[in-house]
Amino acid sequence: MGTSAYDPRSYWNELVTGDGRLSNVGQPALGVYNSYAYRSRLRSLKKALQGVDLGRMKVFEAAFGEGFYLAYWQSQRVPVVAGMDISEAATGAAKAKFPQYDFRCGDLSCKSDFADFGRFDVVTAIDVLYHIVNDKPWEQALRNLLSLVDDNGYFLFSDKFPRQGTYQRFSHVRRRSLSMWEQVLSDAGFTIRRLIPVFVFMDDPIKCGEHPWLGFLSMQQWRVGAKLLRVTQDFPKLQSVLAFSYATIQCLPERALLAMLKRTPNLELAVCSRSSSTTSHPRQPQRTAHSLR
Ligand SMILES: C[S@@+](CC[C@H](N)C(=O)[O-])C[C@H]1O[C@@H](n2cnc3c(N)ncnc32)[C@H](O)[C@@H]1O
Repeated sequence: MGTSAYDPRSYWNELVTGDGRLSNVGQPALGVYNSYAYRSRLRSLKKALQGVDLGRMKVFEAAFGEGFYLAYWQSQRVPVVAGMDISEAATGAAKAKFPQYDFRCGDLSCKSDFADFGRFDVVTAIDVLYHIVNDKPWEQALRNLLSLVDDNGYFLFSDKFPRQGTYQRFSHVRRRSLSMWEQVLSDAGFTIRRLIPVFVFMDDPIKCGEHPWLGFLSMQQWRVGAKLLRVTQDFPKLQSVLAFSYATIQCLPERALLAMLKRTPNLELAVCSRSSSTTSHPRQPQRTAHSLR
């Protein structure tokens, strides 16, 4: 699919208004269903950072959007948080809500927007880099973010990984294979240590990723569920009831499969660190304190 219709600055400035609604940064038509999906996202982030003493960390959040994770950093008493988002309204709202932190409006693929940020123990790019659809700026954004990571720090990013090449159904979303990511990461001296499945059923899956049969199954249920939520978006009360029911039905199989599977045909969260740091075995479950390494 062509990418010419997608202008990131105007697209995100229109969508991410800073009013705190998760539908601005999740699935816009699915209303409160997003709040259930974000619970799963947060569980994955906590899993990724298990054993890390956030109360002593410096965190950089790329594309904080409506500030869902900013509230988490605050709740964990992270002493230093900085971030960048392309939406002016989102940046204004984040500055007003978290005046103790350092936020800038900028483009992740623009090197000069990063001047004087310093370095961080944890750098996150959750649900953003696949929105940089041209490969050169994507690579530049990834390099810009990796340059912020402290020697013993972590870099976290999310994507749905096709087994090969890229997958693009929408002009503003380009999925990239693990090997594409790994090429840039290893070039910059980084290794993926763990992959944490975020969703199996609670977001639209890809059929060209891991476990294609599960991707197919997940896609069938998602088509029905998401359609029901979409057609009721003008009736918020009905949509809320449906969102609750759909999320409740999904909950048990979702949790069971997330506990069992190492990979998913849906969103995954990658935890990376410098190849030279003393790290634990890639994709091995977390161990004791400060143990992503
Ligand atoms: C899907 S939302 C995710 C927001 C947040 N990370 C979350 O998970 O809730 C994508 C975010 O990326 C931001 N964004 C998109 N392209 C960007 C770019 N090139 N530079 C900086 N921010 C960008 C948008 O403004 C939006 O806030």
